[in-house]
Amino acid sequence: MPKFGINMVYIAILGHGVVGSGVVEVMLHNADNINSRVKEEIFIKHILDLRSFPESPLASRFTTDFENIINDSEIRIVVEVMGGVHPAYDFVKRCLLAGKSVVTSNKELVAVKGAELIRVASENNVNFLFEASVGGGIPILRPLSQCLAANRVSEIAGILNGTTNFILTKMIKEQVSFEDALAEAQSLGYAERDPAADVDGHDACRKICILAALAFGKHVYPEAVYTQGIRSVKLEDVAYAENWGGVIKLIGLVREVENGKLQICVAPMLVSRESQIASVDGVFNGIKVNGDATGEIVFYGRGAGKLPTASAVVADIIDCVKHLSARKYLFWEDCDGSNIESYSKDVTGMYFRFKGDKAKILADAEERFGELKLLSRKGASEDEIAFVTTPHTIEELESFKAEQINQGAELLGSIRLLA
Ligand code: HSE
Repeated sequence: MPKFGINMVYIAILGHGVVGSGVVEVMLHNADNINSRVKEEIFIKHILDLRSFPESPLASRFTTDFENIINDSEIRIVVEVMGGVHPAYDFVKRCLLAGKSVVTSNKELVAVKGAELIRVASENNVNFLFEASVGGGIPILRPLSQCLAANRVSEIAGILNGTTNFILTKMIKEQVSFEDALAEAQSLGYAERDPAADVDGHDACRKICILAALAFGKHVYPEAVYTQGIRSVKLEDVAYAENWGGVIKLIGLVREVENGKLQICVAPMLVSRESQIASVDGVFNGIKVNGDATGEIVFYGRGAGKLPTASAVVADIIDCVKHLSARKYLFWEDCDGSNIESYSKDVTGMYFRFKGDKAKILADAEERFGELKLLSRKGASEDEIAFVTTPHTIEELESFKAEQINQGAELLGSIRLLA
């Protein structure tokens, strides 16, 4: 007999990797608490995975065949924690079309197919919830779509990837090499299956796309977003950033500009020590939202890892169970990319580090950009120069860079400012 109500609510989980096993762990460990909240008994009936897990307390519920789940009319909610677009997209869409609500942690799926899946969910009167897709255990999508609904959001700037923040923090605080820090992040279960997705900025890109779509109402496809990772960041740049008065962070940034379009990018940025997100370290994420009524709000917490991510997934399951016959409002329209402004028009200050004829590089830079902030570090060679410019368009800054390289200077580093 069900303990908490008249009904059992049967759910299925697609995937038993880091997040999927975390969802099972949280559901089993906190079962009484969760069931008493929803006043129903939530029962995990199937878990889809190609592997078997004989040690799992739910070993008998594993299946390798998705058809067992889609054809089971008792399943009301499907939890997709497989990752990747294929076959997750096909599975999720079929579930929504079959009248099953879906909860997912899959940021790639939401960033690429979100507008369509939200529409399909709406047409089939079911819910499609994805709180865990951004910020791991940090509540951000629900606050953005509900608690901040009265605001016009002007800007979101966030440290959205735990793995790269972990690596940068190790570089800044312990002088650990990039490779060693990445290996540690992988062993702790923070990194993507292909860590290039973290290191090259694609994971953060997917997350800023989701935040932008939710905040500004139109889908933003990842390929429309200028994306740069952290591979080129050197310990020397870290030292110059310190001298400037800040730290280097991988930032996802979106803001509405005067023509109503969005400036959106992912890149390493110099963040002033004064900024609240400068002190977001390790695997933690920090997301700064500017609303016209609230002013600045910062969300902070663990952005990756098994249990923090599972926490957000299970919260969505609970929300789905509470709204089995009502729709949760989470919506944006599809868009063809006409909502995105060219990155070359973005305006920012830029840190440059060159090797070459210092006097000439300096004179050329001052002529173009006016006053510069010269930087120093211990152990720099005689022919190394580093400075930060006043704000100019990316187009002007890139043109200066190309000109200097053409004239024989060696570019050692260039990082924009978060301003
Ligand atoms: N690889 C991701 C990160 C996991 O490091 O943030 C959470 O999305």
